[in-house]
Amino acid sequence: MITPRLEMILRHISGKSCADIGTDHAYVPIKLWERGIKVIATDIMPGPLKIAAENVKKQGADIELRLGGGLSPIKKGEVDTVIIAGMGGEMIEKILSDDADKTDGVTFILQPMNRQYELRKFLLENGFYIMEEDLAQEGFKVYNLIVATKDVAKSGQALSYNNEIEFHLPASLKNHSCFEALLNKKKREFSKILSGLKKSKDANLDEIKKLGELLLEIDKIEE
Ligand SMILES: C[S@@+](CC[C@H](N)C(=O)[O-])C[C@H]1O[C@@H](n2cnc3c(N)ncnc32)[C@H](O)[C@@H]1O
Repeated sequence: MITPRLEMILRHISGKSCADIGTDHAYVPIKLWERGIKVIATDIMPGPLKIAAENVKKQGADIELRLGGGLSPIKKGEVDTVIIAGMGGEMIEKILSDDADKTDGVTFILQPMNRQYELRKFLLENGFYIMEEDLAQEGFKVYNLIVATKDVAKSGQALSYNNEIEFHLPASLKNHSCFEALLNKKKREFSKILSGLKKSKDANLDEIKKLGELLLEIDKIEE
């Protein structure tokens, strides 16, 4: 089933060949195959890959399925686009770090389920340019998507993040229809951490100050 989150991933694929890392159900690869894109679907676990195989067979799709972790099942230069979606930000960072030699010349469609702030910092500190950001909403849940590449030729069009709050709430998303939902999510997240810290006996005062400042920045954006 193509949910708004998966629809968002599909909107950002413009290449000719694609690998979906951690495919699970293979819904995205099947849609890409329908568009005439060459797709390789991978997963670290045999169980999800079996589900992918069943769905691929049902649709009669020509999709290569490979078992393995991260970028290990993909050869260098084999695809122009790599999707890493539905995983934690930390796992995405690990996948990109473990096979850094395979990341040149590839457009990465990243859909982190958490730690988006940390992932943005990681990308910019590790030679990537962030080209696009997007959001999707399913009920009360808001999902982020980040398009990143190491292609220097595209650096002129890369997004910039000018201060701490923009690493949480990118300026490029301010006019997005889901931005308000993201802003409210961040507000709840920061307020919860702040009230926990205030109750703690050995609270870190710098951390309390930083969270207070971020909440003030959110108030300013809301004005
Ligand atoms: C929550 S599912 C997401 C499925 C799909 N990508 C999506 O966005 O709907 C996460 C999948 O990633 C796989 N996975 C987790 N870590 C992985 C890794 N390091 N390399 C490849 N696959 C991984 C899991 O086995 C699981 O099937």
